[in-house]
Amino acid sequence: MSKSSTEERAKSRNVGLLRRLLPFFRPYKLHLLAAAVALITAAVFMLMMPVALRRVIDLGFDAENAEFIDKYFLALIGVAGALAIATALRFYFVSRLGERVVTDLRRSVYDHAIGMSPRFFEKIRTGETLSRITTDTTLIQSLVSSSISIALRNLLLLAGGIVMLFITSAKLTALVLLGVPLVIIPIVLVGRKVRGYSRDAQDRIAESSAIAGETLLNIRDVQSYTQEATVRAQFGTAAEGSFSASNKRIKARSLLTAIVIFFVFTGVVSVMWVGARDVISGAMTAGELGQFILYAVLVAGAVGALTEIWTQAQQAAGATERLIEILDTEADILPPANPVPLPADAKGAIGFENVSFSFPSRPDDRALDGLSLSVAPGETVAIVGPSGAGKTTIFHLLQRFYDPSAGAVTLDGVTLTDADPTDVRSRLAVVPQEPAIFAASVLDNIRFGRPDASEDEARAAAKAAAADTFIDALPEGYATHVGERGVMLSGGQKQRIAIARAILRDAPVLLLDEATSALDAESERAVQDAFERLSQNRTTLVIAHRLATVKSADRIIVMEAGKVVAEGTHDELVDQGGLYARLARLQFTDLRAVEADTAAADTVADVQSAVTG
Ligand SMILES: Nc1ncnc2c1ncn2[C@@H]1O[C@H](COP(=O)(O)OP(=O)(O)OP(=O)(O)O)[C@@H](O)[C@H]1O
Ligand SMILES: [Mg+2]
Repeated sequence: MSKSSTEERAKSRNVGLLRRLLPFFRPYKLHLLAAAVALITAAVFMLMMPVALRRVIDLGFDAENAEFIDKYFLALIGVAGALAIATALRFYFVSRLGERVVTDLRRSVYDHAIGMSPRFFEKIRTGETLSRITTDTTLIQSLVSSSISIALRNLLLLAGGIVMLFITSAKLTALVLLGVPLVIIPIVLVGRKVRGYSRDAQDRIAESSAIAGETLLNIRDVQSYTQEATVRAQFGTAAEGSFSASNKRIKARSLLTAIVIFFVFTGVVSVMWVGARDVISGAMTAGELGQFILYAVLVAGAVGALTEIWTQAQQAAGATERLIEILDTEADILPPANPVPLPADAKGAIGFENVSFSFPSRPDDRALDGLSLSVAPGETVAIVGPSGAGKTTIFHLLQRFYDPSAGAVTLDGVTLTDADPTDVRSRLAVVPQEPAIFAASVLDNIRFGRPDASEDEARAAAKAAAADTFIDALPEGYATHVGERGVMLSGGQKQRIAIARAILRDAPVLLLDEATSALDAESERAVQDAFERLSQNRTTLVIAHRLATVKSADRIIVMEAGKVVAEGTHDELVDQGGLYARLARLQFTDLRAVEADTAAADTVADVQSAVTG
């Protein structure tokens, strides 16, 4: 984890953090009330038990009282029944509340995370976020659904028990209370450490989740580079790190348990000692001493349970801290307070006015450097240039994944930072350089472009993307599941599904980033035809390395190092003799060379057939 989280850790080392969970309880006030009532009822019945015991002992077990004793025991069974019901209700309400609150918490962390801009995920790994959503919430869940109820019950027992102890014997109770600080001080001191260790352990667990997630997702690359041992070691280090942090926590807690048990029981024993002498001297009845001891045991048990829970609360506070970190991070791409609506008549005019941009993680490198570009509605503009020139970055800014450091990006005349990002994105259909395919059916993957599209529309889009033939050949056609990230498809098949998705989206602006790079010549031809039809009435930006695919664009922009270095039609650019002419020469002479090779091969074949024939 980063340095900043270490600082934060030092700053807020307390259970007060748990207060941040309160808003999640607010919607369930009635539920809380029911839980509290059940809790108090159960505690009261519990506290009645020792009184009953004393009366039975003190009344003696002689025959005269037999009838009374029968009634008494029947009543006791009644109390036991009430205790059972109240306890069951307490368990029900409190556990349910815990599950409910944690479900809400989990959802709100996820909801928040999914709205974060890419910048957030450059800092926090996806696996780390996942781990927070799953394991950290689980820690809180165990606190809410069992520990809090146990804590409240024990607090009540503790308070009630102390009162009853006083009533039973003020002198002995005063003796007990003298020992209390001996127990409380170590609890508080050790508890604080536990929270730090717990957060550490959770950080390490998250790290190991991140490593596991990344390597399992890329299992083929790991195996092909025979890096199993390396990643096992990495995962092992993270997992062991979590173990050693947990181990420190466990040691602290064990020490605490020893201290608390020793003091509590020594206290009880000493008090019994004094009490036994009082009974002998006649200052106290045997029943009173029995009652006192029972209460003392109840109180001691309550203290023990509370210690345990205190350390658990510290643990949950560590987890809460990690969740709050996500909830408190504001997305840096937000709709403005009063978004300017995009014109209802979507034209698809795009403007970049002197845009400079550096990725947040590399503030000193300009990915775009004073770039200006304006694309008229309906125009098809190709962007070419060497790898790393900033072509994809243009698409990132258009989709408002990042905001420019200087200058402005506009869509239909509205500056993107003034508009609602959802509005902007709904006017774009993108085929990204590395399209995402989800673990769902082919149909669902295509419909990701427009979930309300009918199956026929999705099929039509697939046809336009030259994908229908291969989809029909899949075992279950459009219903075939394609596996996580589409692992059951070939690269070109994935690409065509992404193209179908963009076609189905039917947005006024089409952004194609190397959209046909993985296709064979025949499929590419078919898809190009579809794009040409589509681009007739929409603005299209095409990024391509293969110049043959951009030759027919209305205009070609040549980029280098974040700047536009030339623009014009294919022929104009070839005539200008710059970077484009150089690239074109390389690509098209290569082609000619290939053609020459083919011709040579044909000649060889002719000669061979002549010889053999
Ligand atoms: N998330 C990021 N954080 C930091 N730097 C980035 C990030 N993404 C890209 N870059 C850098 O920005 C520059 C432009 O990247 P961009 O993806 O726009 O290149 P490109 O022209 O699309 O290249 P290619 O043809 O290889 O796809 C590159 O130098 C790249 O290293
Ligand atoms: Mg790119």
